[in-house]
Amino acid sequence: MKHFAALLLLSIEYSSCALYVDLTHTLSNKTSYFPTQTRFNFTEQTATWVNGNYFYASNTFQTSEHIGTHLDAPYHFSNTSWTIDQIPIERLISIDSLIIDVRKQCKQNKNYEITVEDIKQYEPINLNKYFIILFYTGWDVYYSNQSMYSGRISNDNSPDGLQFPGLSVKAADYLVKKYHQKLVGVGIDTLSIDAGQSKQFDVHQILLKNNIYGLENVASLGTVLKELSQPTAYFILHVLPIKIEKGTGAQCRIVAVIQDKISNGTVQ
Ligand SMILES: *[C@@H]1O[C@H](CO)[C@@H](O)[C@H](O)[C@H]1NC(C)=O
Ligand SMILES: *[C@@H]1O[C@H](CO)[C@@H](O)[C@H](O)[C@H]1NC(C)=O
Ligand SMILES: *[C@@H]1O[C@H](CO)[C@@H](O)[C@H](O)[C@H]1NC(C)=O
Ligand SMILES: *[C@@H]1O[C@H](CO)[C@@H](O)[C@H](O)[C@H]1NC(C)=O
Ligand SMILES: *[C@@H]1O[C@H](CO)[C@@H](O)[C@H](O)[C@H]1NC(C)=O
Ligand SMILES: [Zn+2]
Repeated sequence: MKHFAALLLLSIEYSSCALYVDLTHTLSNKTSYFPTQTRFNFTEQTATWVNGNYFYASNTFQTSEHIGTHLDAPYHFSNTSWTIDQIPIERLISIDSLIIDVRKQCKQNKNYEITVEDIKQYEPINLNKYFIILFYTGWDVYYSNQSMYSGRISNDNSPDGLQFPGLSVKAADYLVKKYHQKLVGVGIDTLSIDAGQSKQFDVHQILLKNNIYGLENVASLGTVLKELSQPTAYFILHVLPIKIEKGTGAQCRIVAVIQDKISNGTVQ
């Protein structure tokens, strides 16, 4: 009986020792966007007191699947790969994750393409299960300013003249070759896993063809880094995209769970 009580206490202790970090930008009409995509359009429809009895509010929104913090389903660039509703849940929940910090390189070159060397700095990646790699360029600080974030002033709908960092084709090839059995997703804190100057979206083509999904406009990676015991430590990610039949992508809640932290609530 005593033994049982001790075990119970231990499990409660453990679950209260995690810190949650929300890696999701809040969606609004001001949300930054990739040109060519339908912008997020939020309409407050009803907010009223019904006969003075009770309050009732309800809204509506229109959006591209590829706005805000979102997941690119493999089908987005590969007609033989999964649509968003087909991605197995075990590739979305409780996934071991790692942040690769490329801020220094991106500060010197806003069109920086992440190299194989940048990845090798973090090897060996000793994960036996599924995992996600998140690239931290530092671009999230520009998120609220469309021209800074996209790297161009023009507001037109063509994708020309975009400037922001992304993965190199060689890095994408390397990840697939080395890790495609276990790597389920690649994330970044910019508008696209391909750099802004990309014309053919090769990184999308390479990863998505191998059923590795993309996470774009990821927020708050700096907060996670600060909370980790060391910058190369692993942590858990929960990735929860809206389940749209035949979806090529979807807005997505992403939460990092850092174990062995006293939880004082959610950190933004
Ligand atoms: C935004 O949505 C509202 C209502 O759903 C619609 O009337 C309006 O035309 C939309 N605006 C744009 C710019 O698409
Ligand atoms: C968002 O933008 C749409 C279209 O321009 C507009 O109809 C709507 O009222 C805006 N919503 C808010 C909350 O500002
Ligand atoms: C994908 O596209 C290729 C080329 O058009 C076609 O041959 C193939 O049947 C398509 N596969 C599926 C599953 O739609
Ligand atoms: C965005 O940044 C540019 C360049 O720093 C600045 O000129 C512009 O005023 C900013 N726009 C907003 C909406 O803050
Ligand atoms: C959580 O609260 C404790 C006790 O109030 C405090 O010592 C600790 O610094 C806080 N941690 C965070 C991450 O805010
Ligand atoms: Zn996308």
